[in-house]
Amino acid sequence: MTQTILLTGGAGYIGSHTYVALIKSGYNVVIYDNFSNARADVPARLELITGAPVTVWRGDLLDGHSLNAVFAAHKIDAVIHFAAKKAVGESVRLPIDYFQTNITGLLALLEAMNTAGVHNLVYSSSATVYAETETLPIDEDAPLGFASPYAFTKLAGEQIMAQVAASNPAWAFGILRYFNPAGAHESGLIGEDPNGIPNNLLPYIAKVATGDLPALNIFGNDYPTPDGTGMRDYIHVEDLAQGHVLSLAALLAGKGGHLLNLGTGIGFSVMDMLQTYSRACGRDLPYVIAPRRDGDLAAYWADPARAQAVLGFTATRGLEDICTSSWNWVKRRGNMGTS
Ligand code: WQD
Repeated sequence: MTQTILLTGGAGYIGSHTYVALIKSGYNVVIYDNFSNARADVPARLELITGAPVTVWRGDLLDGHSLNAVFAAHKIDAVIHFAAKKAVGESVRLPIDYFQTNITGLLALLEAMNTAGVHNLVYSSSATVYAETETLPIDEDAPLGFASPYAFTKLAGEQIMAQVAASNPAWAFGILRYFNPAGAHESGLIGEDPNGIPNNLLPYIAKVATGDLPALNIFGNDYPTPDGTGMRDYIHVEDLAQGHVLSLAALLAGKGGHLLNLGTGIGFSVMDMLQTYSRACGRDLPYVIAPRRDGDLAAYWADPARAQAVLGFTATRGLEDICTSSWNWVKRRGNMGTS
């Protein structure tokens, strides 16, 4: 019997790429999304990629009636939970919105799952749950902490699920701590599509490459790193999606819950990314050195060993793939209109 997966936030950046990977792996998938941070035409583009109709349930996590209805309408075997707010800076300005969506929304989902007898959940966590550290690489036992309401909501979510799992062995959680997702699907039909001026490095560079923004502001070049700019662990979104498929399969196979980093284990600097993107788009991209951004760390990257040991997961794509796939996507997006 083909298993059915509910994908909350499945029309979003990582959700849509995971949708494609799940379909390829033979699952039925229902997308549950309020489209607050996703373009209305994403399902149509997913149909183009997969060649099959996309099942979408337009709903909000905080609408208990809608959540219960989607579980009543579909025999759901597991949930992958992407629907959340994820901008660190915005969370500092709007903490209550972040607590509502990311924590109350998770509780509403857990309640609806429990009512429906569904107890397998893959959860989007983040490397921002780690306390500031100079000990690299970062493994899953590294000290925890939070420097923003966003990071607090991710850590709170992990703690909530740990206590729910302790209350009833039927629950199994795949908690995945993302480092820096980046890149786009090889088709160029889906990719990162932030509203307004991007906060994150890669979509900002992409807008410089398309001419929508004049130059990259490099937030500090006086960090204790080889070229002085910040270093991060950029993981291709298609690798990240595959990590979710492996986590889901482990839960459905009854192997129990896990908590894992999803990263490459390699750190690249802002300048590495800018130079790689310049090669991908065929021109030297302009930049200016700007002051450091509050809250930024000099460098962090994952120890990916446990995901390999537990799930057999290893990221296969590098910075060239990230930048080439991103450039392929933003070139095509420019011709898609604004629907
Ligand atoms: C990367 C590097 C910046 C923009 C954030 C969230 C994290 C996760 C991933 C959700 C840093 C530099 C950036 C720019 C720059 N999201 N930079 N100019 O801050 O590592 O992580 O996104 O889970 O939670 O915190 O990513 O892309 O913002 O920054 O110089 O215009 O690029 O200083 O060194 P970050 P980022």
